[in-house]
Amino acid sequence: MDLTLTLDFGSVTPLQAQVFDQVREIILDGQLKAGMALPPSRLLAERLRVSRNTVMLAYERLTAEGYVKARGTAGLFVEPIPPDSLLLIQRGSRSLTNGPVPDASSEPLLCFAGSPGGGGDRPEFDFWVGRSDPAGFPLPIWRRIVLRLLGKETAYLTDYCDPAGLPALRTAISTHLRRARAVAVTEDQVIVTTGGQEALNLVFTLLKGHTRQLCIENPCYLGASLIFRNAGLAIHPVPVDGDGLRTDLLPTAKGSLLYVTPSHQFPTGSTMPLTRRLALLRWADETDSYIVEDDYDSDFRYDGPPLTALAGLDGGRRVFYVGTFSKSVGAGLRLGYATVPRLLWDEARMLKARMSNGQAWLEQAALAAFIDEGHFDRHLRRLRQVYKARRDCLVAVLRATFDGAVVLGSESGLHLVWRLPPGFPPARQIQSMARAQGIGVYALSSGAAYDFDPEARDDMLVFGYSSLTEMQIEAAIGTLHRMLQAPG
Ligand SMILES: Cc1ncc(COP(=O)(O)O)c(C=O)c1O
Repeated sequence: MDLTLTLDFGSVTPLQAQVFDQVREIILDGQLKAGMALPPSRLLAERLRVSRNTVMLAYERLTAEGYVKARGTAGLFVEPIPPDSLLLIQRGSRSLTNGPVPDASSEPLLCFAGSPGGGGDRPEFDFWVGRSDPAGFPLPIWRRIVLRLLGKETAYLTDYCDPAGLPALRTAISTHLRRARAVAVTEDQVIVTTGGQEALNLVFTLLKGHTRQLCIENPCYLGASLIFRNAGLAIHPVPVDGDGLRTDLLPTAKGSLLYVTPSHQFPTGSTMPLTRRLALLRWADETDSYIVEDDYDSDFRYDGPPLTALAGLDGGRRVFYVGTFSKSVGAGLRLGYATVPRLLWDEARMLKARMSNGQAWLEQAALAAFIDEGHFDRHLRRLRQVYKARRDCLVAVLRATFDGAVVLGSESGLHLVWRLPPGFPPARQIQSMARAQGIGVYALSSGAAYDFDPEARDDMLVFGYSSLTEMQIEAAIGTLHRMLQAPG
């Protein structure tokens, strides 16, 4: 059969690709049917006024991808089932293949999917909580490490990693935890996970059989509350104050699992003092309970030395430590970890295998090298300076603009809370007013937090400051001030 192809000699698409595309289309259209022969390459090349090599390269690709097959010296013949039919199980519009689109979820998403393709529509000045600065990502070093890894150790691209995580990364994490958080673990106690959220799921599933009731800070992190509220077990929300979780209000019944954020209570930001941490450990012993310590943003402490983690005080008996690189490096990596007592590591590893059979190799290997080669420590030191300056700026501007504003939880982490004075509109109302001005500030109920008390006072605004410059912070608070002063 004669093939009618039209080549564009001025196009950036190579001629061989144009031949390939057009012959493929003709096959898929059904003009060239199964069993029909392609014209000999020399003939087609002459007709198209291109080199024979161009046609041969296109034919080789058609053969390699399964559109045609050589029959000895007789030439190339169209295959009965084009490979596209094997790939595309169903053609059709999105609505036909996906079914009806449900109404918007009433539950806020954990993350604010603001990245390209994430569907988020960010305000110009966005104080979204706990977002590491995109400009602070160590791109040149990361790129160098990734290219180096891809240049030599690529076996894991086609093979499986240990479901517990790449040994080099587990070692790097355990070394970091021993040095920075006084948590004495070794690599055979670490399970690498898809962010902190999967680590929370993993620990919860591991301990569920032992658990009679769940205890959780109130207010608390939405992600933890989602797991606990769906567990089918009794929940005791435990109030928090300026020193974190009220240990005196914990239940005395045996067999609890407690979720707690002692370094920087989420969302209120309080830091739990040593006496309360010790009381918590005593409670766990006395009630035969376990604790999940979520240490999500403890790499950023600005006003003093790091505090020993609860897991460091406990010595690996009752506290399961959960960490994440979402704040310190970037949430897009989706890398976190849980530490478990050695006795439970095999079970935790099996569980992780059951859940997802391990993590992607490249990100793990790059992160391990990033930590081992000292880049992580340098990166943290640099970011601490940047974030501290932003924190100082936000606190100073809030206090100066709103007459001694009460600011909570600013000693560490990536967010703080402004407790609104009496007479101010509710936080949710300020949130929507600010949004109309291009400013994202968040009431607790929208800021990845959850309150078990539906009547709770709506007087806290959460400010994540890590991804805004000082100039942006000043401009945004200025606008907020004018907005709140405007009549009616
Ligand atoms: C309190 C708290 N815990 C854990 C996480 C874990 O996040 P990821 O799943 O991104 O590691 C977050 C993230 O915002 C958080 O705020």
